[in-house]
Amino acid sequence: MKYLFLFCFLIFNIHQIDAQQLLWENIAPGIWKGTVGEAEVYNLLTAADSKPNIPAISRLGQATFPIEKAEIKAKILDGNTLLQLPLEREEQVFGFGLNFKTIHQRGRIMRLHVDHYGGQDNGRTHAPVPFYVTSSGYGVFINSSRYLDVYAGTGSRLDSKNPAEALDRNTNSDWTASPYSDAIEILVPANGVEVYIFAGPSMLEAVQRFNLFNGGGPIPPRWGLGFTQRVHRLFDQDQVLAEVDEFEEKGYPLDFIGLEPGWQSKSYPNTFAWDESRFPEPEKLIQKLKEKHISLNLWINPYVSPEASFYEKLKPYYGSHTVWAGAVPDLSIPEAQKIYWESFKKDHVLPGVGGYKIDEVDGYDRWLWPDVAQFPSGLAAEQLRQTYGLLVQKQSSKLFREQNRRTYGLVRASNGGGVSFPYVIYNDYYDHRDFITAMINSGFSGLLWTPEARASKTSEEWLRRFQTVVFSPMAMINAWASGTKPWSYPEVATEIKDMALLRMKMMPYWYSSFALYHFEGIPPFRAMQLEKGFVLNNERQTNATSNLEDNPYQEAIKKELNDQYMAGPSLLVAPIFAGEEVRKVVLPKGKWYDFYTGEYVGNGEVITINARLDQIPVFVKDGGIVPLMEPMLHAPGKNQPYDLKILHYGESPGQFTLYDDDGISYDYENGHYSWREINVTRESNGKWKGSISAVYAEKPNNVGKVTWVFMSEKENQNPLK
Ligand code: GAL
Repeated sequence: MKYLFLFCFLIFNIHQIDAQQLLWENIAPGIWKGTVGEAEVYNLLTAADSKPNIPAISRLGQATFPIEKAEIKAKILDGNTLLQLPLEREEQVFGFGLNFKTIHQRGRIMRLHVDHYGGQDNGRTHAPVPFYVTSSGYGVFINSSRYLDVYAGTGSRLDSKNPAEALDRNTNSDWTASPYSDAIEILVPANGVEVYIFAGPSMLEAVQRFNLFNGGGPIPPRWGLGFTQRVHRLFDQDQVLAEVDEFEEKGYPLDFIGLEPGWQSKSYPNTFAWDESRFPEPEKLIQKLKEKHISLNLWINPYVSPEASFYEKLKPYYGSHTVWAGAVPDLSIPEAQKIYWESFKKDHVLPGVGGYKIDEVDGYDRWLWPDVAQFPSGLAAEQLRQTYGLLVQKQSSKLFREQNRRTYGLVRASNGGGVSFPYVIYNDYYDHRDFITAMINSGFSGLLWTPEARASKTSEEWLRRFQTVVFSPMAMINAWASGTKPWSYPEVATEIKDMALLRMKMMPYWYSSFALYHFEGIPPFRAMQLEKGFVLNNERQTNATSNLEDNPYQEAIKKELNDQYMAGPSLLVAPIFAGEEVRKVVLPKGKWYDFYTGEYVGNGEVITINARLDQIPVFVKDGGIVPLMEPMLHAPGKNQPYDLKILHYGESPGQFTLYDDDGISYDYENGHYSWREINVTRESNGKWKGSISAVYAEKPNNVGKVTWVFMSEKENQNPLK
């Protein structure tokens, strides 16, 4: 009897360790929250504090739980929560934040850790968002501010229902060094965690639910979608104004100008105060720029110099370690936030600065605070590392929101929960191809990424880089070190100007694409895998050359489609890289047309195109509509009218919803915006006819004259040629 009792006791306790129950709660249509153990109070969602857009999520419809609940397993062991999520045999996995080299994540091992990107997709990156979607049409988000170890379909379990087969390497050619794994396993270093499941049914809808759950994407001020130049770090006030004038004289568009560290009296660590010799009259500068329709953006990193005016006041709130000898404010503490941001408000925002570039909130470990650092909030160094990018985005954007002014800035780290912040990620790494892969991946994880242009070895490379910048969330030259200007490579100066003007022409298209990000959660820049009609399995294996002496476990390498992406509702962008003259483009099913000529190019096939130096290849879906405006040198200001030229492509009727608001304030949150239906249909005589719906009274309407270009009608004047 005694032994039976002991046996039962042991079994009970083992069971306790073995099977922790995830408690599921349906928190919005198609979104479930599962909790296991004691989930930590400080997590990505509490750090970001964004509000779900429930009405928009509801419009995506009800859905059933997308996987077997019982197949999502959790165990709490030695202060860790071990999560296991199922994978079907052919299921493909995307996401986990800003990866630069890989799109397919199945079979990869990562430690999700906010860091400066170090050239390898190992989880250390500027935004290692713990969110993934699979080709089965659902998404998973782990709401933890810890470093997470992810085994994305690499481990093979003894108790698996679908175990890996034991094969004889000597005789069986199917033997592989990476046997089949039926699960994604994640180690969370905490005694519990929240897991969120997002239903599809498509991958895009799962991503949309995730984005809307985080408040939807930002709508930048209209000027944020114009062109931006970041000037040399030691520029002074007169040089800034001269540069602005030069843009104007030469006819290159410019909407905001960025000052790099030298605007401050001291930087690294920062005083956050103007340098009086270089910028004796900052308020006048801001005013002059405003008259020229230019907004000003200021570089900072958050680390406080002992010479900063608020250094002493903030003293109780510093972490134990410094960064470049600057104190690290614990920005999770409300009192610290108040003291810190007050000076930004008074000295920059109220005088009219339009935004910030918030640098170096990512890594490396040798620069940032080490994991042994302590913070007055009691949060672990790791938790602040994972969320510092979120905190600075949330708190700085609030300064502008309080003035009912939108901002659009740059940040070098973000994480899950940060979808709605008006910030674009950038970095120091400079591989053009990998920049495109990052842009593709950004769309899986609720991020915006800019492939900034800095300088180039050749004029051809400069133009190629510039072309992709124009088809990205922020069209930027970052000349902080090089002093480069758009016209610095005279052989391609005209082509560069045409590209910059194309960006401006497309402003109504970009603005509406961002409104879709905000109101529907559709990423403006996204992977082909999120596009209907894209055949998922066309990524091929290439055989690695077998050299067993070098690597006895060498496998075939998966070839990724990482050099083409979707931009807005109907454009497929296939960048050309320096040195290339031809490239292949994978067209999803459905007819596709050349953006510049309107000519039919193919349907559900791989085409080979010859590159033109002056164009970035872009293709339009059948029925696609692209509203253009005249190429102004600055984005239309508040309620400034602009005429529309609406392009229609292909043989099918088309539809587009054109978004409009005042372009600068948050009044759209109170309904002060308009959506207008653009329709193109074919009349009985075979002619195309376009119509645009009226605007409700009291709603913003900046559209002036509307003209139509039906690209399939050869006699039309093509405004893009
Ligand atoms: C780097 C940043 C660059 C530039 C520079 C200024 O960290 O990535 O874009 O701002 O700092 O020191």
